[in-house]
Amino acid sequence: MKKSDFGIIGLGVMGKNLALNIADKGHSLSVFNRSVEGEFEIANNFLKDNPSFNNITACTDLKKLTLSLKKPRKILVMIKAGNAIDILLKELIPFLEEGDLIIDGGNSYFLDTIRRSDLLKTYNLLYIGVGISGGEKGARNGPSIMPGGTNKSYSLASNVLESIAAKDKMGSACCSLLGPEGSGHFIKMVHNGIEYAEMQLLAEMFALMTGSMNYKEMAMVFEEWNKGELSGYLLDITIKILRKKEDGRYVLDTILDKADNKGTGSWSSKIAFDLGIPNTMMASAVFARYISSFKKEREFLSKNIEHNTIPSKKINLDKLKEAYDFARFINHSQGFDLIKQASNQYSWHINLNEVARIWTNGCILKSVLMNKLQNLLKKEDNLLQSEFGFGMLKSNERSISDVLKYGLDQRVALHCFGSALNFWMDMTNKRGPANLIQAQRDFFGSHGFVKKDDVLNEMHHCQWEEQNNF
Ligand code: 6PG
Repeated sequence: MKKSDFGIIGLGVMGKNLALNIADKGHSLSVFNRSVEGEFEIANNFLKDNPSFNNITACTDLKKLTLSLKKPRKILVMIKAGNAIDILLKELIPFLEEGDLIIDGGNSYFLDTIRRSDLLKTYNLLYIGVGISGGEKGARNGPSIMPGGTNKSYSLASNVLESIAAKDKMGSACCSLLGPEGSGHFIKMVHNGIEYAEMQLLAEMFALMTGSMNYKEMAMVFEEWNKGELSGYLLDITIKILRKKEDGRYVLDTILDKADNKGTGSWSSKIAFDLGIPNTMMASAVFARYISSFKKEREFLSKNIEHNTIPSKKINLDKLKEAYDFARFINHSQGFDLIKQASNQYSWHINLNEVARIWTNGCILKSVLMNKLQNLLKKEDNLLQSEFGFGMLKSNERSISDVLKYGLDQRVALHCFGSALNFWMDMTNKRGPANLIQAQRDFFGSHGFVKKDDVLNEMHHCQWEEQNNF
């Protein structure tokens, strides 16, 4: 039997589309999917559904899959992140040989990836964690791919991964080795954190416009914006969503207002907490989704609230546009900062400019802004301090602040717009109120404080209750 170049385990939406993409690029492929309730022939059915491909072999079990592959074997795992991966690895390892490579292409937690990679090393097996973005269409036509692993591991899979990836504006693959084990999944996790806040900003604008505009008008405004600097995949799909009708009704009006999530947004926020990085926008976006899920409580509490106490006046669209520009820049800047700090913490040596390049096409975050950031990150890794970034934020500050005032008047919660402006105001404030926090900490816990004029930065205490100063 002729052996295949590459294997895929897991023929869900992403697995199937990646398989077709890989086969399209001329690589021979073996595929396997475990039987699920009511469906035992998933791999064979996949072949039947795609009869034009003669370079795909369907395998009915893991042993057959491994026997059908050229050595060293390269197997892409596209199954649900979490415990299922550990169970699969346990079953798969006995069929593998020294030097074989497993590629986890799901949204696995980066610390799990590091742990699994260490485990596989003890069997002399190679492991890379690969973030893949772009959804179903991206997987089929060219996703953005974020691998993390050793050079040796990556070199075994690079020709296949780079051949299926989206291409940047220079024609290079939106895929390259970004750093050691775990870093690829970390970067994908942060991609999703930024994605959460970008989606929340669009949802907040939708809420702001709802009072005075219909869906058709909103779509027209967004369409205009999408022709210029604000253009991006998420804005583009929002326009299509706003226009979509079924049976004469807007589909949007039929959808329950409870946002779901699969965890990557909260993981990126948690790690930001652990690393001490103020990633305020993605955390706000996660909490906004959580608040939305309290539908019953919201319905109950809303009964006695007067809505629209102030007559709805039309939102100033020029200001909204500038506010959106402002908030997106802060969001991306916070996300890149998180990657930078994690890279320092874990000694990953991530090149932020390369991350931005990989995100310029194929992924959910692809946008004109990402192209701009790629250029900025070539010169410096602090986006807030970049001449362009700082200048734009400074000149759009008034607009975002007016948009927030409008939101307060109209009783529209603006979690992410608010986070963006608060972050900017504090970051550009030489003197904040944290001296009071330090005093309180010292008052009840003798935690100490540093004095402004103490060049040695030593800890001081005060006997706060010794004498009443009032
Ligand atoms: C991508 C997306 C994708 C994401 C899902 C759902 O880059 O293609 O980020 O990986 O996991 O779209 O994410 P939530 O269910 O958490 O919103």
